[in-house]
Amino acid sequence: MCGIVGAVAKRNITPILIEGLRRLEYRGYDSAGVAVLATGNGIKRVRAAGKVAELENALELSPAHGHLGIAHTRWATHGKPAEHNAHPHLSERLAVVHNGIIENHNTLRKKLTDLGYTFTSDTDTEVVAHLLAHNYKQKQNLLCAFRTTLTELHGAYALGVIHQDEPDTLYCARMGSPLVIGEGSEERFIASDPLALLQVTDQFIYLDEGDHARLTLESREIWNKQNVPMEYAVLRYEHAAHSLDKGEYRHYMLKEIHEQPVAIANTLSGILGDDHVLTATLGPDAETRLKDIENIHIVACGTSYHAGLVASYWIEEQAGLPCQVEVASEFRYRQVAVPTNTLLITISQSGETADTLAALRHAKSQGYLSTLAICNVAGSSLVREADWRLLTQAGPEIGVASTKAFTTQLVALLWLTTALAQERGRANELIAANVRALRNLPALTAQTLELNGEIEALAASFANKHHALFLGRGTHYPIAMEGALKLKEISYIHAEAYAAGELKHGPLALVDEDMPVVSVAPSDSLLEKLKSNLQEVRARGGQLINFACERAELDNGEGITHIKMPWVYESVSPIIYTLPLQLLSYHVALVKGTDVDKPRNLAKSVTVE
Ligand code: G6P
Repeated sequence: MCGIVGAVAKRNITPILIEGLRRLEYRGYDSAGVAVLATGNGIKRVRAAGKVAELENALELSPAHGHLGIAHTRWATHGKPAEHNAHPHLSERLAVVHNGIIENHNTLRKKLTDLGYTFTSDTDTEVVAHLLAHNYKQKQNLLCAFRTTLTELHGAYALGVIHQDEPDTLYCARMGSPLVIGEGSEERFIASDPLALLQVTDQFIYLDEGDHARLTLESREIWNKQNVPMEYAVLRYEHAAHSLDKGEYRHYMLKEIHEQPVAIANTLSGILGDDHVLTATLGPDAETRLKDIENIHIVACGTSYHAGLVASYWIEEQAGLPCQVEVASEFRYRQVAVPTNTLLITISQSGETADTLAALRHAKSQGYLSTLAICNVAGSSLVREADWRLLTQAGPEIGVASTKAFTTQLVALLWLTTALAQERGRANELIAANVRALRNLPALTAQTLELNGEIEALAASFANKHHALFLGRGTHYPIAMEGALKLKEISYIHAEAYAAGELKHGPLALVDEDMPVVSVAPSDSLLEKLKSNLQEVRARGGQLINFACERAELDNGEGITHIKMPWVYESVSPIIYTLPLQLLSYHVALVKGTDVDKPRNLAKSVTVE
C-alpha cells in the first residue's frame, strides 16, 4: 500500500506534501517522511514513526522548505514500522519514495553491497535509491539512469525521485501500483491517488502501466515502457465536488455511513426508466451483449467480495444465470474452467486492489466473453482495463472500513441483475418491482439510519466481549459476513459469520452467555427456518441480538434484544440490513476507543498482493 506525494512548484511545497499525506493516510499510517530541495541547498529529509501528525511534530522542530519534494506514508511490508525504515530513502544526492514491492530486492541488495553501498534500512525500497545512484554514476544522465534502473526492478512500484543535480525536476514511474500526475498552473504534482492533490488541482493525467515521466514547472514528458513518448488527455476529477473533511461528524466512517442515502441516489441517477432499467448505461450495444451472456463469474476482495456473494443469489434467482464468486487472490493463480459466453465481473471500491487487478488481467487469457468492472473510481486501473464499466457514485471513501462503497456496489449489482433479467425476457413485474424498490431506497436508507441511537445504546454491553457470531440466511448470509468483518476490522473483536443452518454443525459448541449472537432476520421466505436456529441459541444461554423486520414476530424474553427494522421489499433487503451492522461495529469501536478510521495493521487500498 503506502501513499506517495510529490511536487515541483514556485512556492514552498512542504505544506502541500503534508496535506497530501494526511489525505493518503488511509493507504498506510505506520510512519511517514518528506524530502525537499531548495535551489542551492541540499536535500533535507525529515521522517517519523507513527502517523502523519508525528511527522508534522518533527517538522516543527526541524522545518524543511523547498520548491521540489517527495513525501510518503508507509504501510510496512519489508522491515518493521520505524523511523529508519520510513521513506524517503536517500543515496548520495538523491531521494526516492516507493509504493509496491521490489521482488528482487535481495539480489540487488547483495550486488549494491558488493559495490560498496551501505544500507541503513530493512526495506526493499532502499535498493532503488542505491541502484539509481549507481546507474547515474555510470550514465551521467539522470533520465537514462532512471530508465536503466526501472528495467532492473522486478515487482510492483510507483516511484517518485528527486536529485540535487536537477533541482527543478521531479521523476516518477508506475508499474503495478497507482500513480497520477496533477496539473496546476505552472506547477506539477504526483500522487498515489488524486484525493491527495484536490487541495491544489482537479486536473489529472492517469499514467499507464510501465510509464515513466519527467516533470518540471514548464514541461511534462511521459514515456511508455519502450521509452516512446506518450500524450494523455488531462481529465477533470469527477468527485471534486465532494467534501473531503469530516464536517459535523467525529469520524469519516460515521460521515460515510450517513452519506449513504445520497450516495445511493447518485449511483441510481440516470440509470432507471419508469418500470425498467436503462441498459444503455453499459454502452450502446449493451442490449445485444447482455443477451449473449450465459454464465457469470465474480471476482473481488474484502468487502467487495461480500457484495459479489449477495449478487450471486440475485443473478441466479432473478436472471436465471449460473453465477460463481471467488476471492481474487485465489482466482488469479489458477486455471479457470470457463463455460462458453461467461462474463467476468470484478468489483472494487478503489479499482487499484492488486489482487483484483491481477485477476482481471489473468481473466484475459482464460477465454471470457468479456469483462466488466464495477468500481467507485472512474480513472482507476480496473476501469481502464475492463471491457465494460459500471461506476458507483459513492464519492471518496476515506474510512478504512468500507460502508457507502459496499451499499452502492450492491445497488449497481441489483441494477445489473435487473438489466440481465430484462434482456433475458424475465417477468416485467419482477423488473418493475426492482426499479420501484431501487427508487425508494435512498429514503428507506435514511429512515433506517434513524436507528442510530438505539444501536448506540447496545454497544456498551457488546464492547467487553471477545467473540461474536453473526447469522443469516440466503442473501443475508453474506450480509452477516460483512457485519462480522466490520466488527473485526474496527473493534478487534473476533467475529465469524455462519449461514444460520450451519450453526448446529459446529459453532453451536461455542455458544454461551459470553458469546453474543447477532442475527439478520428480515421477513422473507427463510424467516421460519431462521427462527428455529435462534431457538437453538437461546436454549444454550446465548445472548441474541436480532436485527429483525417489524413484522417478523420473533420470541421475546431474557437475553434477547430486538432492533426493529422497517419492512422492505426482498430484493433490496440486504442493502438495508447492512446499515445497522455498520452502526453496531462503529459504536462498539467507539466504546473500545480504537482508531475507527485507521484500524491497526490495515489499509484502505491494498496495492500489494
Ligand atoms: C481493503 C479495504 C477493504 C476493501 C478491500 C478491497 O482490505 O480495507 O475495505 O473491501 O481492500 O478493496 P477494493 O478497493 O478492491 O474494494
